Amino acid sequence: MNKPFQVLALGGDHIGPEVVASGLSVLRHVSARYEIPVEIDEDLLGGASWDVHGTFCTDTVAAKARAADAVLIGAIGGPEWDNIQIDGPITETDGLTRLRIELDVFNALRPARAWNALLSRTPYRHEVVEGADILVVRENAGGIYYGEPRGREVQSDGQIRAFEISEYRTEEIERIARCAFRAAQARRGHVTSVDKSNVMETGRLWRETIDRIGRDEFPDIRLSHLLMDYALFAVAKSPQDFDVLLGDNLFGDLMSDLIGVISGSLGMLPSATLPGIARPGHPLKGGIYEPTHGSAPDISGQGVANPIGTILSVAMMFEHGFGVASAARAIEIAVEQCLDSGLLPPDLGGTTSTEDLTLAILERL
Ligand code: IPM
Ligand code: MG
Repeated sequence: MNKPFQVLALGGDHIGPEVVASGLSVLRHVSARYEIPVEIDEDLLGGASWDVHGTFCTDTVAAKARAADAVLIGAIGGPEWDNIQIDGPITETDGLTRLRIELDVFNALRPARAWNALLSRTPYRHEVVEGADILVVRENAGGIYYGEPRGREVQSDGQIRAFEISEYRTEEIERIARCAFRAAQARRGHVTSVDKSNVMETGRLWRETIDRIGRDEFPDIRLSHLLMDYALFAVAKSPQDFDVLLGDNLFGDLMSDLIGVISGSLGMLPSATLPGIARPGHPLKGGIYEPTHGSAPDISGQGVANPIGTILSVAMMFEHGFGVASAARAIEIAVEQCLDSGLLPPDLGGTTSTEDLTLAILERL
């Protein structure tokens, strides 16, 4: 038996623990089936951690996350914790962003695809969305989220000034560029990089750097650049035209929700946020796997959250974290079979509960 992979599961808030419970059932099942041993430890993050420890991410959780092979997260936040005012960097005010920095996971892979069973749950005519399959590669450890200084100050005239800084160094852009180009090599060979190089200094450096890495290191990849505002229009209008969408921390955040439209619900979207590029067949330690959706306080505790985003994140954990792509494909197929047989949670217009949908996916596995 190989040494077990250590997985840290952090449910977080509201529907977070509900979907993580589903993800863990699938993780345990597939690990037994494929003889990939895992050891799972669970802890608190976000508001759940605040209520017990007075911090959104304890040093213990940060240390456990650094030691783990993979971290599975549900979702964090809720109105209960919105008005807690902490002075300091975002790593102190937000548990998830702290973990991203602790693990230096700069490469956020956020895929979305059109599922045949869900085409009519999208706002598109079928022929416009059918087959659409997009991967957002988001720089996730820099930019405006983390630039210093940031904060707020009361000015002499009584006005409050709030501010943050968008900053990138060339090496930060180079490393995420390589992630996007490598991802495109395994897909359809097209990278569309977005920026606001018409108004932002970081945007100009972004475009120059992506261009240089593409030209010098990835001549096999077709590279396009779009301004962020127009990119939103173009992707919304013709999602089938796009393969890999590459953006900085803020623009990647926006695009990853946008492409959820082609899947029919944000509840369908998984992510893997990695400290580098996983080589096929080789485990990459230290990634964070989480659904893209939020903690959905409005439906929390009702057992109706869509677990698929989390279950597909577990699939990404098998592929990137453990190096077993076949297990990932098996999970995706089981999910697709459930959708095809009409088992849909409420966010997709159905009535299947979180638990029943999870059981149905397990059965097909
Ligand atoms: C995401 C989320 C986070 C982000 C929030 C919860 C801090 O929107 O992962 O997309 O902005 O990165
Ligand atoms: Mg987001």
